[in-house]
Amino acid sequence: MAEHRGLLLFHFSLLALSICPVTSRRYHSPPYTATLNVSDSLAKAHTIVSFDPTADPHFADHHNSSSSDDFSIQFVSRDLLPSSHGYATGRPLSYQALTVARLRRDAARVRYIGHRFRAAASADLKNPPSLLKGQIYSGRREGNDEYLSRVLIGTPARSFYMVLDTGSDVSWIQCLPCANCYEQSDAVFDPSASSSYTPLSCESPRCRDLGYGYACVNSTISSSSATTGSGGGGDGAEGSCLYESWYGDNSFSIGDFATETVGFSREAEFSGLSIGCGHDNEGLFYGSAGILGLGAGSLSFVSQVSARSLSYCLVDRDSIAASTLRIGSRHGGRAEITAPLIRNGTAIPYYYVELTGISVGGKMLDAPPSTFAVNVSNWGGGVILDTGTVVTRLFGKVYAALRDAFRAGTAALPAAEAWSIFDTCYNLTGLESVEVPTVAFHFPRGQELQLPAKNYLIPVDDAGTHCLAFAPSSVPANIIGSVQHQGIRVSIDLVRSRVGFTRRMC
Ligand SMILES: *[C@@H]1O[C@H](CO)[C@@H](O)[C@H](O)[C@H]1NC(C)=O
Ligand SMILES: *[C@@H]1O[C@H](CO)[C@@H](O)[C@H](O)[C@H]1NC(C)=O
Ligand SMILES: *[C@@H]1O[C@H](CO)[C@@H](O)[C@H](O)[C@H]1NC(C)=O
Ligand SMILES: *[C@@H]1O[C@H](CO)[C@@H](O)[C@H](O)[C@H]1NC(C)=O
Ligand SMILES: *[C@@H]1O[C@H](CO)[C@@H](O)[C@H](O)[C@H]1NC(C)=O
Ligand SMILES: *[C@@H]1O[C@H](CO)[C@@H](O)[C@H](O)[C@H]1NC(C)=O
Repeated sequence: MAEHRGLLLFHFSLLALSICPVTSRRYHSPPYTATLNVSDSLAKAHTIVSFDPTADPHFADHHNSSSSDDFSIQFVSRDLLPSSHGYATGRPLSYQALTVARLRRDAARVRYIGHRFRAAASADLKNPPSLLKGQIYSGRREGNDEYLSRVLIGTPARSFYMVLDTGSDVSWIQCLPCANCYEQSDAVFDPSASSSYTPLSCESPRCRDLGYGYACVNSTISSSSATTGSGGGGDGAEGSCLYESWYGDNSFSIGDFATETVGFSREAEFSGLSIGCGHDNEGLFYGSAGILGLGAGSLSFVSQVSARSLSYCLVDRDSIAASTLRIGSRHGGRAEITAPLIRNGTAIPYYYVELTGISVGGKMLDAPPSTFAVNVSNWGGGVILDTGTVVTRLFGKVYAALRDAFRAGTAALPAAEAWSIFDTCYNLTGLESVEVPTVAFHFPRGQELQLPAKNYLIPVDDAGTHCLAFAPSSVPANIIGSVQHQGIRVSIDLVRSRVGFTRRMC
């Protein structure tokens, strides 16, 4: 771990360097420029491709807590998940293949967000996801969400890699007996071996909170499928609660809704949390044991432990260091920049931030502030913070304005062909560093968050091709994705409803 900490420090000193003013200018510069250290981004690209997670299988196990009220959790990128229990990571051999895999997951995530909006807006949310039963999608080897942590579940506690997801509310874990389980890195959770596992009844308020994703059956799935023909459906007790979570792209988890002990360490352990025990699971979570929902809804982990703040900082996507998430009993503390947080967990689980504009090279893009305003009657518009999305999505016109301004400021850089979802790329082979226009997010009261250049001009292969990491949005919202989050601590103050951004505080 000491080694990882060392690397972390190293990255931050580089980040500090890259924000410093530059003296020598290689290309004609617009009024505001930032420096991208090309050799450094390629060196990191090389590091992640050659990293062997089996060399340190416990590297995501380090959690720190002073009490169960305030604790920090380390989490790592999915690309670092060790393989075992039949789960083969199929680690890409080249950085280009890694980028392709990331962008595939990113596209699936955006489709999932689109599905959430359609479900929230229309009656298709009433479609029972169980209609999907019987369809088997084999050979799916891509995980959806990008970040995982070790989570302790049950009594005695066992440790599982779970996806940390700020964009969903219900937490669930794959459970024995499996009617259908995808491969995961840990052994599958066995509820019969946990003394704290208790199925919820249909009458419990937590079951009602599931809303449309809820059903009532006369026996739990595990008892009916474990003992075919006996007992199931006939005990006359009150019905037990079934959850159904559907994620679009034919990904779903269905099973018993139960209470269980969930924790991160001995000090940070919570009993009686409602989680799903998934007996029928399919799709995009490959490798992980399940999802820990950190979204804005009442069933999310954050809401169930009555957290008053949530803060996270994603390290560089190509770093093998762990990122940290803090969940706190106090409000968010101080931040460099603060903006209003808009959320309604009943309607949609996302955290929205009030963004007023975007500038490129110090010049505001031509977009009225209403471009970024959320419509609270259908939760369209607005700006979502989502660590599961990789590349920031902007409404088409805003994206085009940003791209055109960026291209105008980089006319002297050697252009390269479009690459995957990116239409603005450069061949930076052989260059040590380049200057590019600044890109900044603007917030109320004239506050400005200037992004480090590596948060928007990213390598896509190990030869030096770099692309502008923004894309047009195909969903009814703008989404700030993980590339743009990197190295910036985001603190979500649930008491005062505001979001803080602080650079260099990972
Ligand atoms: C770029 O990063 C490398 C380390 O990867 C460092 O040695 C070099 O000094 C940096 N160059 C600039 C211009 O900051
Ligand atoms: C763990 O957290 C405590 C209090 O928050 C802090 O004093 C301590 O230095 C931390 N330890 C590590 C190893 O980060
Ligand atoms: C559950 O059992 C009750 C009586 O014990 C019966 O009336 C009801 O139809 C059953 N429900 C289901 C979904 O099987
Ligand atoms: C949240 O959304 C629900 C469902 O759309 C709505 O009934 C409720 O009034 C909303 N609450 C707030 C505070 O906007
Ligand atoms: C907000 O959404 C509602 C419902 O879809 C729509 O009727 C209304 O025109 C929208 N308001 C704005 C300002 O777009
Ligand atoms: C990128 O530039 C280098 C040197 O300038 C050149 O050798 C290489 O062929 C170029 N790559 C592509 C894909 O054009």
